[in-house]
Amino acid sequence: MRADRHDGTRLTRQTLVMALGLIACLFAAELSAFSAIAQAVRATQPIYETRTDHDPNGTGKFYMGREIAQVMGAGGITWLNRPQREDEEKPALVIAALNLKGGETVADIGAGSGFYTFKIAPKVGPSGKVLAVDIQDEMVAALRRGAADRNAMNVEVTKGSERDPHLPANSVDLVLMVDVYHELSFPYEMMTAIRNALKPGGRMVFVEYRKEDPAVAIKEVHKMAVDQLKKEMGAVRLTYIRTVETLPLQHIVIFEKRD
Ligand SMILES: C[S@@+](CC[C@H](N)C(=O)[O-])C[C@H]1O[C@@H](n2cnc3c(N)ncnc32)[C@H](O)[C@@H]1O
Repeated sequence: MRADRHDGTRLTRQTLVMALGLIACLFAAELSAFSAIAQAVRATQPIYETRTDHDPNGTGKFYMGREIAQVMGAGGITWLNRPQREDEEKPALVIAALNLKGGETVADIGAGSGFYTFKIAPKVGPSGKVLAVDIQDEMVAALRRGAADRNAMNVEVTKGSERDPHLPANSVDLVLMVDVYHELSFPYEMMTAIRNALKPGGRMVFVEYRKEDPAVAIKEVHKMAVDQLKKEMGAVRLTYIRTVETLPLQHIVIFEKRD
């Protein structure tokens, strides 16, 4: 009688486990079907939108509700190299936030004339390197001149394209973009390529003027809000880590490649 009762209990438990297993399978199948449908829907929708009514400093091209700014031309080199930049921007605090130990591969994307490239090179040292990428010939030439003048053997200069920085897969510990992201003409494609270039656990660091602060006197399309960055990095599966608010006008926003 006791044995019967035990058998009965085991049977009921087995049935319950089987039923739960079945429910879990159905749920997983449902979920993957849902995500496949969501992906298919995304694939048929355009990533970018063009609007005629837009900011005069913008391109009229919008990504996730944000207007993409015009690319700063080579005429901006004087502005990038202005002596008062040290005081206005406090680059030493940016470098400190990167927490470099030496030996890392850092990609400075949209490196311009190399204002940050040549500050990072001594930090990563001879066992590390800085991959300085820009799309404009004048910037690439300035970077090459800067590397030669300083005999910076650990700086490699690459000419990227609007969609791709041309970096090898899984090769970079940290990507830095200072005052660049808001003007990428193809942010989704660029970030997909950057994600691919990052090693697992690699960090993506943005330095952008604070859009949240109306007192920051920079053209609106050249500023970025942290929430907007979080939304756009979510689209390429980069995980938000933290925002460092040590700079006078910009924020340092850090993401990581987790999977
Ligand atoms: C405002 S400047 C900043 C330069 C530098 N990061 C600095 O802080 O001195 C922006 C730079 O990003 C570059 N840029 C724009 N789109 C780019 C892209 N898709 N890939 C690489 N560089 C890009 C521009 O050519 C320009 O040199």
